[in-house]
Parts: sequence; structure tokens; C-alpha cells
Amino acid sequence: MLPRTLAPQAPFPKTRLRRLRRTSWLRRLAAETRLDVDDLIQPVFIHEGRGRREPVAAMPGVDRLTVDLLVPYAERCLEAGIPALALFPLVPAERKSEGAEEAYNPDNLICRAMRALKRQLPELGLIGDVALDPYTTHGHDGLMREGVVLNDETLVVLQRQAVCLAEAGCDVVAPSDMMDGRVAAVREALDRAGFDQVVILAYAAKYASSFYGPFREAVGSKDALGGADKSTYQMAPANVEEALREVALDIAEGADIVMVKPGLPYLDVVRAVKEQFGFPTFVYQVSGEYAMIQAAGERGWLDAVAAMEECLLAFKRAGADAVLTYAALAVAERRRGRR
Ligand code: PBG
Repeated sequence: MLPRTLAPQAPFPKTRLRRLRRTSWLRRLAAETRLDVDDLIQPVFIHEGRGRREPVAAMPGVDRLTVDLLVPYAERCLEAGIPALALFPLVPAERKSEGAEEAYNPDNLICRAMRALKRQLPELGLIGDVALDPYTTHGHDGLMREGVVLNDETLVVLQRQAVCLAEAGCDVVAPSDMMDGRVAAVREALDRAGFDQVVILAYAAKYASSFYGPFREAVGSKDALGGADKSTYQMAPANVEEALREVALDIAEGADIVMVKPGLPYLDVVRAVKEQFGFPTFVYQVSGEYAMIQAAGERGWLDAVAAMEECLLAFKRAGADAVLTYAALAVAERRRGRR
């Protein structure tokens, strides 16, 4: 964090700020912020079948994996030092419905993936989204009636989904739906079911953002949404005071960690949240942020991994404790190679 008052400095030429930039060892010693592999969470898209790896067109370098391929991939992440994965399912169209019943089917794709990973790599952290968009025919995060996304009715389904994830071995449930009151509802349901150690990572300040486009393609909710936006429940990009109110409520409702999303366009929000609450604060470098950097890198317009690391460091500088990023494994492996 910035000091409140700066100590008086001798003027130039006595003070020369370039002195501490002269060599690599000086720059390393003087670094204020560090990006560590311990701070990175790798999101992964999964789909049905066996032995199938399918590139996500809008996210160069990201593939959807079947559960059998997910396990060795997760092992690679673990070996690279990444603490946790966040799993996102591509749900077959015939399993989607108005009521999103598949969200709490104990044999759904995400639960099967969680069980396989917990069995084979018990020391790897697992994060599961709590939201209905992969499971609804209309692609919204909640239940819908006459064009309105229903709040309180959705909470009941989110509770069932969260308990279902916990039963499958999910360590951290991450409500990303932006319904009012969901954190309290999910905490209550988890505790009632005996999951008082399951962590809630609340997507507390989640904005209605254009930067989710590639993700919606990856999980197949883009066509379902058919151009509809989520601005009746996700936050307006203009607001930061409202973000603080969202975060305050989620903390009061029992969130263990709060998250700001997207990342780079909302660095001021990350800083404001960390300064205001001094609470574990994560940030999500979302699909569109990743895609922009990768696309420019593919054209040779910039060094994609270096640009990625610069953005991740910016999140740390702004006050984030950890980052969800599609580049987690690439960054972690590049760091290994450097040592
Ligand atoms: C679903 C969800 C979204 C993301 C994470 N969980 C998309 C959305 O709200 O439409 C976005 C992640 C990304 O863009 O990388 N509730």
C-alpha cells in the first residue's frame, strides 16, 4: 500500500532514482510487489466424453478437456505449484432446462470431475462456480419468468447446487450469479448439510462486462443468451461505491473471500475494496482480457506471456491476494524454467 505521507527527499542531483534501477539484483531487492505462483488459480473448461481435447476458438491456448484428460492436466498444474483449479462445465444442450435441474444432479459433469480430481490429487484445491447459466436453456444465471430473472426463487436452486458441489469434494464454492442474498443462503445450506469447512469465494463485485464473451462461447451459453445481457443482476461498469456496498453485504453474509471481476478495467475497484475492508480479495482476469493479449501475441505485436505477467503483477500492486487467470500454468511453467 502507498505510504500516507512521503518522507522529504533531497532534490536532484543528490537523489537519483535511477540508482536503484541500475542492475537486476538492485531492481529485485527494491521490488515492492511480487507475483508468486502461490497466487495463481487456473480455470479449466471441461466437456463430456473421453480423450477429447477441443480448442476454444476465442481463447488461443485454452482447450476444453474431458475428465480423463483433466486429471493429468491438473497434475501438471500441481507440479508447477498452482494451489487450485476452478472448473467450468460445457453442458450438453439436452441437459439444459428452464429449472436448471442438472445443476444439482450429483452425477453431472462437474461433480464427476470434482470426484475424480479429489480421489487422485487430494492436495489440489478445487473451486466450483455457483450460478445457473451453464444449465439454463436461456443462459441466464438465475431462473426466469416472463423475461425477469427471479431472485429469491433462484436462491433455493443455488443452495442445492452448492451442497451438491460440496458433496462431490469441492473445497471452495464461488457464487458468481449476483443474486441478492445468495452468500447467506449458500452458507446456511452448506452448514446445515455439515459442510462448515467449505469456503465461500464470493464474486462480490461482478460487473456486466463485454469481456466475458469468449467464456460464454467456451461454456456454450452465448447462443442460449442470444445477445441478451445480464445488466439486471450484474453491476454497472460506472459504479464503484456500489461495489463497496456489494462487498460489505457479502462479508456480512459470511463470505470468506471476496472477488472483483473483470480485472484490468477495474483495478481501482480492487484497490478500493482492499483498502476499505482489509479482507481476502481475489481478482478474475477474465476470458476477454486473456483473449486480447493472446491475440496480439499471435500477431507478433507483443510478447504475450510478458504482457500477461505485467497485468498479473498489476493486480497484486492494486491489492489483490490471488488471481484467477487462464495463463496460470503458462506463467508458472515459465517461472520454473527461469530458475
Ligand atoms: C458465470 C460466469 C461467467 C464468468 C465466470 N462465471 C460469465 C458470465 O457471468 O456471463 C466469466 C469468466 C470469464 O469471462 O473468464 N456466472
